[in-house]
Amino acid sequence: MEEGKKLVVLTHGGAGSDPAFADGTAIAGQICMMSLQSGEPIIDSACQAVATLEDDGRFNAGIGSHKRNDDTVQMDASCMDSSGTFGAVAALEGFKNPIHVARIVSQSEYKMLVGRGANQFAANQGCQTLSPNQIIGTGADFSTTDTVGCVVRAGDQFACALSTGGIDDAIPGRVGDVPLIGCGLYAGPDGAVAATGDGEAIAMQVTALRAYQLIEQGMDPKAIVPTVIAWFKETTAFGIIVVSKIGFAGGVNCSMAWTASEMLH
Ligand code: GLY
Repeated sequence: MEEGKKLVVLTHGGAGSDPAFADGTAIAGQICMMSLQSGEPIIDSACQAVATLEDDGRFNAGIGSHKRNDDTVQMDASCMDSSGTFGAVAALEGFKNPIHVARIVSQSEYKMLVGRGANQFAANQGCQTLSPNQIIGTGADFSTTDTVGCVVRAGDQFACALSTGGIDDAIPGRVGDVPLIGCGLYAGPDGAVAATGDGEAIAMQVTALRAYQLIEQGMDPKAIVPTVIAWFKETTAFGIIVVSKIGFAGGVNCSMAWTASEMLH
């Protein structure tokens, strides 16, 4: 990595997460920053942050995932970078870090794998499994906490990553915004966006792509965040983190643990 490259990392624990858990998002951000400093690809650094949040247990992802109404756990995850790399999994069951599976998908001939096929793919790739009794499960309902996410800038490159256990008590097979490109996340040459909250509402707004288009128009992330939050009803949980060449910002219409850090490397 050349001298003087700007590194920016934002991590969040999901719309509705307790701001007191910002120690967890800070640690995830630090791990991402160390990965960037060691020269890892930016998308892998974003995925490292999300894997750390999946392992935290206080957020609705990985071992903290909500349960479906049949007591199963189905998880969605995705990652993207500004070079056009994208990968996602949906309704994945029995694996510790869905974001790692999404990253491997991004390196395959496919963009998204779901359900049984995603499980088979993860097993074939030797991904670490997770038994049902290892799931801690966060909160009692959807309002408690949502998707975890990360956006990263490394000089002129951008990346983002998301992971979620979805809505508590939803029917098996329900999938929200997380694996849908341009809905939960988007990264391009001008910046990166990660959304969190009501997955159906986020998807119907094509939220991340439209937020990214505001970046392309030159809007400051500090203005983009309230603009995008205003697209949602106050009663619809929604949060967002944004980074661009101009700056970075995060915000939510309920509560959210989130942190940001920047440095020159
Ligand atoms: N935002 C995550 C979901 O609705 O599944």
